[in-house]
Amino acid sequence: MSIPCRGDMKTTTATLALTGVTKRFPTGTTALTGVDLSVDAGEFVSVVGPSGCGKSTLLRLASGLEEATVGRVDVDAGTSSYVFQDPTLLEWRSARKNVELIGELSGLPKSQRQKAAQEALDLVGLTGFEKQHPRQLSGGMRMRVSIARALVAEPDLALFDEPFGALDEITRLAMQTELQRLFRLKGFAGLFITHSVAEAVYLSTRVVVMSGRPGRIVAEIPVPWEFPRPPELRFESDFAHLVGQVSQALEEHA
Ligand SMILES: Nc1ncnc2c1ncn2[C@@H]1O[C@H](COP(=O)(O)OP(=O)(O)OP(=O)(O)O)[C@@H](O)[C@H]1O
Ligand SMILES: [Mg+2]
Repeated sequence: MSIPCRGDMKTTTATLALTGVTKRFPTGTTALTGVDLSVDAGEFVSVVGPSGCGKSTLLRLASGLEEATVGRVDVDAGTSSYVFQDPTLLEWRSARKNVELIGELSGLPKSQRQKAAQEALDLVGLTGFEKQHPRQLSGGMRMRVSIARALVAEPDLALFDEPFGALDEITRLAMQTELQRLFRLKGFAGLFITHSVAEAVYLSTRVVVMSGRPGRIVAEIPVPWEFPRPPELRFESDFAHLVGQVSQALEEHA
């Protein structure tokens, strides 16, 4: 359990750092309090916590969609991207046109953005489905389009808000394998929110546990295994031990 994680990679550059962050909404709700969290290059950090503890708020702060009431949020990343819980695809656009949207908005020439979109769709295993519209795709495929859209910009930091929450168990496991492959291939730093403790442990270099609202960080548990992690890792006793450790921290601070 003491093997250094991704020891071959330099992990000194802070890609994202939240320091002493409190978030209070005008409604009077304090969503987060005293949060210190950093995600370095080469890291994939998962956040678990009870419903309503401020996980989405944390992600929105990291992406700049919200501002901290107290404390600071520093992002040292050229590009960051956001994958929402719901795939949020435009129904009237094909899969490829959905992925091209970001390039369109940033004024990339047509040929260039088509090429980039096709590559991103190939990468997530959707070759041949470019012309389909979201309603013609399965839930897992729609999520793949959403991930392709996030990765087409080659982000340094990728933010995921429970992307697999709506998927069935088998698709979900397949998507975990897929995401792990993309993480290794593309080298983005990841901040990943999930309700599944096993998913957090399987995917991450570190699992962050939050308390009930107002959310604060109550535990940070490093996950030691090198990548790629075989699916069978989920059946090993060391894996179950870590899942138990995270679950216990969750229950103690719910
Ligand atoms: N824009 C907003 N205005 C007011 N209150 C908000 C706003 N956004 C979130 N909240 C409140 O902040 C708290 C945290 O919400 P958030 O969505 O971050 O929780 P969460 O941990 O993502 O929950 P879930 O696991 O159910 O997705 C909740 O009480 C919510 O009502
Ligand atoms: Mg949420």
